Amino acid sequence: MPPVATWKHAWITGASSGIGAEIAVGLAEAGTSVSASARSGEKLEALHKRNSGVSALPLDVTDPAAAREAVQAAEAAHGPIDLAILNAGIWQPSDPDAFDGDAAARSMEVNYLGVTHALAALLPGMKARGHGHIAVVASVAGYRGLPKGAYYAPTKSALICLCEALRPELEAQGIKLQVINPGFVKTPMTSVNTFPMPFLMEVEDAVSAIMRGLTSSKFEIAFPWQLVALLKLLRILPYGLYFWLMRRISPKV
Ligand SMILES: NC(=O)c1ccc[n+]([C@@H]2O[C@H](COP(=O)([O-])OP(=O)(O)OC[C@H]3O[C@@H](n4cnc5c(N)ncnc54)[C@H](OP(=O)(O)O)[C@@H]3O)[C@@H](O)[C@H]2O)c1
Repeated sequence: MPPVATWKHAWITGASSGIGAEIAVGLAEAGTSVSASARSGEKLEALHKRNSGVSALPLDVTDPAAAREAVQAAEAAHGPIDLAILNAGIWQPSDPDAFDGDAAARSMEVNYLGVTHALAALLPGMKARGHGHIAVVASVAGYRGLPKGAYYAPTKSALICLCEALRPELEAQGIKLQVINPGFVKTPMTSVNTFPMPFLMEVEDAVSAIMRGLTSSKFEIAFPWQLVALLKLLRILPYGLYFWLMRRISPKV
């Protein structure tokens, strides 16, 4: 994490563990006031104990009114949010034997609508100020439908598409929008996985890559490069070849 206080006040969702918690502490160490949101208030208080520059701002991102109130409360306490990292997310692998419609809906509510509610809460203020920086955490899993990803991957594809749609219009209003597409990172989210996770990264390395990306002008912050290259190649394969490969990865495809 570079020791630069580029931002005065950052809001991070999904900050109670994993990637979000490490970014929160890293930014606070660099001198940024951090408003940290997630549902687990106790974990957020523990982060505050690690670094008093992190303030707990409990929030369930699926509640649009609560997102608006959270932004108002954070800005009243610490001034305008000049960086928002919309990172809250859940992962539930899909089961080829039993499609769970509730799991699909819940994934979309948290991973996708959680971001749109936060954007609706943030954008009026940023537009009025003509200034702001937003980074949305999607995933390389959003590049193409992958085995076990029937609930998760569509939420991340939708986020990438959302950011592509919004980037030009927000840029014209002085707001920088980036999409973060991590590969596998060692966090509580991936600790449940029993399948091989190629190029699995330590959370500290992922956060360093994110911090480098945030200070760049790139639209997409994606890592590690090996997995990104492989999956971007898969993305351009014709369906026949793509599904032939997928059948070899997952016999039920
Ligand atoms: N780890 C990876 O390999 C990987 C790869 C690609 C993308 N990502 C993405 O990176 C982001 C962070 O994941 P992680 O790996 O750091 O996982 P994690 O440790 O499980 O963190 C997920 C965070 O989201 C929060 N969250 C979940 N539901 C929420 C809700 N309804 N409202 C508010 N907060 C909620 C959790 O806090 P509470 O439970 O306290 O609410 C937690 O702070 C996610 O969007 C994930 O999809 C992760």
